[in-house]
Amino acid sequence: MNSELKNVGAAKLSLAGEAHEFPVFKATHGPDVIDIRRLFGESGAFTFDPGFTSTASCESKITFIDGDEGVLLYRGYPIDQLAEDSNFLEVAYLVVYGELPDRDTLDTFETSITRHSMVHEQLKNFYNGFRRDAHPMAIMVGVVGALSAFYHDSTDIADPHQRLIASHRMLSKMPTIAAMAYKYSMGQPFVFPDNALDYTSNFIRMCFAVPAEPYEVDPVLSSALDKIFILHMDHEQNASTSTVRLAGSSGANPFACIAAGIASLWGPAHGGANEAALNMLEEIGTIDRIPEFINRAKDKDDPFRLMGFGHRVYKNYDPRAKVLRKACHEVLDAVGIRDEPLLKVAMELERIALEDEYFIEKKLYPNVDFYSGITLRALGFPTTMFTVLFAVARTVGWIAQWLEMVLDPNQKIGRPRQIYTGAPKRDYMPIEQR
Ligand code: SDX
Repeated sequence: MNSELKNVGAAKLSLAGEAHEFPVFKATHGPDVIDIRRLFGESGAFTFDPGFTSTASCESKITFIDGDEGVLLYRGYPIDQLAEDSNFLEVAYLVVYGELPDRDTLDTFETSITRHSMVHEQLKNFYNGFRRDAHPMAIMVGVVGALSAFYHDSTDIADPHQRLIASHRMLSKMPTIAAMAYKYSMGQPFVFPDNALDYTSNFIRMCFAVPAEPYEVDPVLSSALDKIFILHMDHEQNASTSTVRLAGSSGANPFACIAAGIASLWGPAHGGANEAALNMLEEIGTIDRIPEFINRAKDKDDPFRLMGFGHRVYKNYDPRAKVLRKACHEVLDAVGIRDEPLLKVAMELERIALEDEYFIEKKLYPNVDFYSGITLRALGFPTTMFTVLFAVARTVGWIAQWLEMVLDPNQKIGRPRQIYTGAPKRDYMPIEQR
């Protein structure tokens, strides 16, 4: 990656009577940054920013988010245009390589991804080590982490060819591994990929086909899931992507880095929120119980939060939630669920929350996870698979960000510091004197 950092001035800091100046770099869109790499060396002080609310950890050209305007761009293209007019593999190429491909380039990319969709036969043995009721995300962390034991020929991150093969293997095998986790949880046989199908149809078939009878993928459902995958593909430096970058900064192989990203995504405050949001809607159950949960969400002494609401960056409606809301209605119509009670609860909860002073003041809007759960359940997936689907899609962003990190001339091993407020230096005391 070529660094495009352009100096547009300086920021002055006065500390302990000393003046310091730091360069300011200009962004294409969004906030400029103050380059404080020399701060500790010059001033002896660290910055303090738990949760990195004001910290840019890297330079990136992949995704831009405007939290106030509710804008999300992949390589400059608005997410709603890509979701409506493109398809998963074309957007995956854009996110990873930076430009929309011409027809020949896309065909070559699709052929490569298709030809890597099978997994090593011995990888299946890992599934047998799990209980059948294991959460599929636990299986994903274990099996993806094990991939580096099978693909030694693509773990040298300094080799461009190995980076390419490892990337294509990850993009191609994640749907197969995810579908196998689902089949394993149901005690059904694994279904091999079908190279005649497109990426998302292949995944649906591996999840829902059985050897005992033919299976036709419903194009309406495949199109809806393809859109959902596009919406979940990348999201700047979120927790799981930052985990992948930090793991990768030590030179760890891409399979291990993606496994670390899966572990971070599983948290209910992050990718696990789609599962938690549906469970919450089921717990609310009926519209008349909504006020009780709104009050709990506002109660500082109650740890309950409205799952699927709020976002570190979006202080406006998550643009993905808008597209998902529309896809949700399309899927429910396609599967003939006219009066899905949970959708009614979700829409009424959204209406009430958006009018409530607390949510307005704290700028809490529905995020990507609010409508995805209802849509995925209507597609036939169990709640425990929702975050797995998020991981399948986000693998594109994790790979793109990992490649960008490996090629970033400014990248060093990630090693944050701290403010130490523990015990002052003291001598060991023998137990008889304690
Ligand atoms: C994803 O980073 C990404 O880009 C993530 C993601 C991606 O694509 O990678 O977009 C995917 O993770 C979406 C978010 C899914 N998580 C949820 O829906 C879980 C519920 N949301 C919250 O946990 C919370 O909103 C977070 C974790 C998403 C954001 O947390 P922040 O930015 O740290 O905000 P905060 O927790 O500091 O909230 C600010 C205030 C707090 O009140 P005060 O301390 O100021 O009094 O808003 C309140 C919070 O208590 N608040 C909520 C709330 N979310 C925040 N109150 C009730 N319900 C909520 N959902």
